[in-house]
Amino acid sequence: MPKNLLITGADGQLGNEMRNILAGDKTFNSFFTDKETLDITDAKAVYKFIEDNHIDIIVNCAAYTAVDKAEEDIIDCAKINVDAVGNIAGAARNFGAKVLHISTDYVFDGYNYQPYEENDETNPKTNYGTTKRDGERMLLKFAPDSIIIRTAWLYSPYGKNFVKTMINLAKQNKTINVISDQIGTPTYAADLANVILKIITAPEWMPGTYHFTNEGICSWYDFAKAIIRIYGINTCNILPIKSKDYPAKASRPFYSVLDKTKIKRTYGVSIPYWEDSLHKCIEILKQNS
Ligand SMILES: NC(=O)c1ccc[n+]([C@@H]2O[C@H](COP(=O)([O-])OP(=O)(O)OC[C@H]3O[C@@H](n4cnc5c(N)ncnc54)[C@H](OP(=O)(O)O)[C@@H]3O)[C@@H](O)[C@H]2O)c1
Repeated sequence: MPKNLLITGADGQLGNEMRNILAGDKTFNSFFTDKETLDITDAKAVYKFIEDNHIDIIVNCAAYTAVDKAEEDIIDCAKINVDAVGNIAGAARNFGAKVLHISTDYVFDGYNYQPYEENDETNPKTNYGTTKRDGERMLLKFAPDSIIIRTAWLYSPYGKNFVKTMINLAKQNKTINVISDQIGTPTYAADLANVILKIITAPEWMPGTYHFTNEGICSWYDFAKAIIRIYGINTCNILPIKSKDYPAKASRPFYSVLDKTKIKRTYGVSIPYWEDSLHKCIEILKQNS
């Protein structure tokens, strides 16, 4: 019999990629919800949904993700990224469901000089990062057998993201300044959805925290250059600038490369190089435009 799977935040970037990957899947009877259909801050609604639909696995793609706005919108951000994760964890524990939750490189301070491992000390520097770290703790307190995947620099053909922003800016401008002193790894949401499917269909549920991004390392400047080169825009020049010359409400980590050894060893996944996946996403964006 197929298991009942709940995808929360299904209208977001990752949620949409989960919809794609589960289309036609027979392993699961999938329920896709977002704010309108299941507001995860509503504890009663969360408990009722999970009980009524006999949910076996919850993949929580819902989150408050506006990093700068989160510096002011402190209460709402905590409601979604911390308290609501507690609702999901509590309901899962009550009704015997498993939880796979998504977290972020922002739980770290970005001062490392080598890729962050899962057990490295967290030290978030922003309100968004703090709520995501507290969300992880909340989840593990009530549902310690959960799986957490920390990811970074997520993009897709859906919603707002760096890839779509760069393409739009490059079409309208002759030069764009992009930060070159922040280093990380882009993650194509479709690749993350792929690994999530692998994890939830694995013969054994292996709780713990895992890191996942694409392979490779680059700066935002390198990323932007690759985006407009692959898209084929040759009328715009990308110029490197320093973080200090691009003030934002929330500070960004200087170094947010995540070590993926654990997820690769545990699940035997081979992860695409970031530029290869960028090609795939841009192909879709071009088809859609
Ligand atoms: N984007 C990144 O660069 C990045 C990097 C590292 C980690 N992550 C993590 O990866 C996960 C997926 O990110 P994403 O980029 O796919 O996020 P996203 O596109 O912002 O999607 C999040 C979805 O959650 C929904 N949502 C917000 N509040 C909700 C609520 N109370 N109840 C139900 N749904 C609610 C949002 O709806 P509205 O749009 O209507 O608010 C949105 O559809 C998140 O946990 C995020 O923290 C993201």
